Amino acid sequence: MIRTIQGTTVVITGATSGIGRATAVAFVDAGAKVVVAGRREERLIELVRELENKGGEALAVKTDVADQAQVEHLIAMAIERFGKVDTLVNNAGVGIAASFVDQSLEDFKQVMDVNFWGAVYACKAVVPHMRKNKNGLIINISSIFGKRGMPYETAYSASKFALAGFSEALRAELMTENIDVSTIYPGAVRTEIFETAKNDTGLDLGASLPKFPAQELARIIVQNARFPQAEVVMAGDAIALNFFNKLAPGLVDLALGWSVPFVEGARRAKQKPSTDK
Ligand SMILES: NC(=O)c1ccc[n+]([C@@H]2O[C@H](COP(=O)([O-])OP(=O)(O)OC[C@H]3O[C@@H](n4cnc5c(N)ncnc54)[C@H](OP(=O)(O)O)[C@@H]3O)[C@@H](O)[C@H]2O)c1
Repeated sequence: MIRTIQGTTVVITGATSGIGRATAVAFVDAGAKVVVAGRREERLIELVRELENKGGEALAVKTDVADQAQVEHLIAMAIERFGKVDTLVNNAGVGIAASFVDQSLEDFKQVMDVNFWGAVYACKAVVPHMRKNKNGLIINISSIFGKRGMPYETAYSASKFALAGFSEALRAELMTENIDVSTIYPGAVRTEIFETAKNDTGLDLGASLPKFPAQELARIIVQNARFPQAEVVMAGDAIALNFFNKLAPGLVDLALGWSVPFVEGARRAKQKPSTDK
């Protein structure tokens, strides 16, 4: 089914930077009204100003998606301001790169709270509204690590697999009610996440990876809002990993397993107190 974007209301979580921010700009450029959410209020206000300056309509709602009441408030504010929510983009996410044994369960749960439960809370709040309107689109931003688990990414991979499974199940459940659910599986995208993610590996996360521009991914997300797909795997790195993991999962396991001693070396070097004078 082809969907219209002009005049629709789109709620985007995690819109203070990276993919979420670029997606808000791209939806406004396509004629949508946007409700942007995140914890850093000053960034939301600055984004709304930028969107209004280009003739768009936007509302900022400071939201911690790990808090169900705040997510309910976000959806309620969107409906109060614009009368309806047509599209929800569950994009808010945090990264962590750490040894499973050494990371705290609090850190693990925090990643699940934001990356998985945040999206569940938003769907719980918005689906009854979409059902009443007999119209809706939910776009969940997973990760290629939601298709292939990575060493030192146990919490992140678990959260993104959980989101992907939830998304697929919800898609089938709502399919006959004119509510589409899409899952996006990005590879490496150039955003702040590589600097802000907790990192206990001693490696410069993603330093050697070619990264896809966030604006390009945002364009693909908006395109997906016109022609919703069950899933979008993007870009080349994600497509290649997905392909090889389907073709020869055992070989991918071996390759990833062999990388572990190198990471352990980097971790030890990071932890060793410097003896330089
Ligand atoms: N960049 C990549 O390579 C890549 C690859 C695959 C998937 N992804 C996924 O894409 C999504 C966007 O990531 P990004 O790369 O654009 O990273 P980013 O630039 O760091 O953006 C993350 C966004 O999530 C928000 N966020 C974090 N914790 C939150 C919370 N508790 N409540 C509300 N918002 C929260 C941040 O806003 P505040 O800090 O202001 O709250 C920020 O706006 C994430 O789900 C990420 O897992 C990214």
